[in-house]
Amino acid sequence: MYIILLGAPGAGKGTQAVMLAEKKKLVQVASGDLFRKALQQETELGKKAKAYMEKGQLVPDEITIQMVLERLAEPDCKNGAILDGFPRNIKQAKALDKALGQKSRAIDKVVYIKVSEGELIKRLGGRWICRKCQAPYHEVDSPPKTAGKCDRCGGELYQRTDDKPATVKKRLKVYFEETAPLIKYYQGAGKLLEINGEGNVSDISQRILAALH
Ligand code: AP5
Repeated sequence: MYIILLGAPGAGKGTQAVMLAEKKKLVQVASGDLFRKALQQETELGKKAKAYMEKGQLVPDEITIQMVLERLAEPDCKNGAILDGFPRNIKQAKALDKALGQKSRAIDKVVYIKVSEGELIKRLGGRWICRKCQAPYHEVDSPPKTAGKCDRCGGELYQRTDDKPATVKKRLKVYFEETAPLIKYYQGAGKLLEINGEGNVSDISQRILAALH
C-alpha cells in the first residue's frame, strides 16, 4: 500500500506519518528527513540540497526524484510506504506514478491534511525535532517529558534552521505555488481524502484512519 501525506509545511505530515506507519506496519519515507540525513553526513547529495533548503526552496526535481525512488526500491519498502513530503509538484507526482506503474503498482490514497495559515506559522515557530529519530515536538502543544530530550529514544532535540520566520514565509509561498496544485491532480485521480488537520494530534490520527477505511 502506498499512501501520500500531502499538506503545507507544519500541517503535521511528519507527526501523522510516524503514527500511520506504526498502525499500517509500513515504512515512512520523508524526503525532508532524507535530505537532512544527507546534510548531517555531509554527502554530495546533502551539499547539493543545503542551499535550497536554507532558502526554503524546493531541491531540484532530478535530485529529489532519484533520491526518493532509490529509497522506495529498498527491501523494507516492498509492501509499500507512507510518503511524507514527496511528491511536491506535478513533475514529481508523474515520475512517481510512472515508477510505480513499471512495477504494476500505484498510489492507493492521498491524505490531504488541511490547516489554516495562522496555525501553520504557530506550529513551525515552536517546533523541536529529535536529531536521532526525527520525532517532532512543539514547545507549547506537545512538549517532551524532559526538556531537550526525545521521549521515544532520548535523542537531543533541536530547532530547524528553515523554521526561522522569513524562511517559513518562503516555504509557504512555494507550497501554495508548486505543491497545492497536487490537490486537484489527485482529486482528478479519485484518490484524495481531505482531513481537517486542526485539533488534537490523536483525533487527527483517528480521522485519517477512518477516512482510509
Ligand atoms: P520537509 O522536511 O518535507 O518540510 P515541510 O514539508 O516544510 O514540512 P514540515 O516538516 O515543516 O512539517 P510537517 O507537515 O511534517 O509538520 P510536523 O509534523 O513536523 O522539507 C524541508 C525542505 O526539504 C523543503 O523546504 C525543501 O527544500 C526540501 N524538500 C523536501 N522534500 C522535497 C521535495 N519532494 N522536493 C523538493 N524539495 C524537497 O508538525 C509541525 C509542528 O507542529 C511540530 O512542532 C508538531 O509537534 C506540531 N503539531 C503537529 N500536529 C499538531 C497538532 N495537531 N496540533 C498542534 N501542533 C501540532
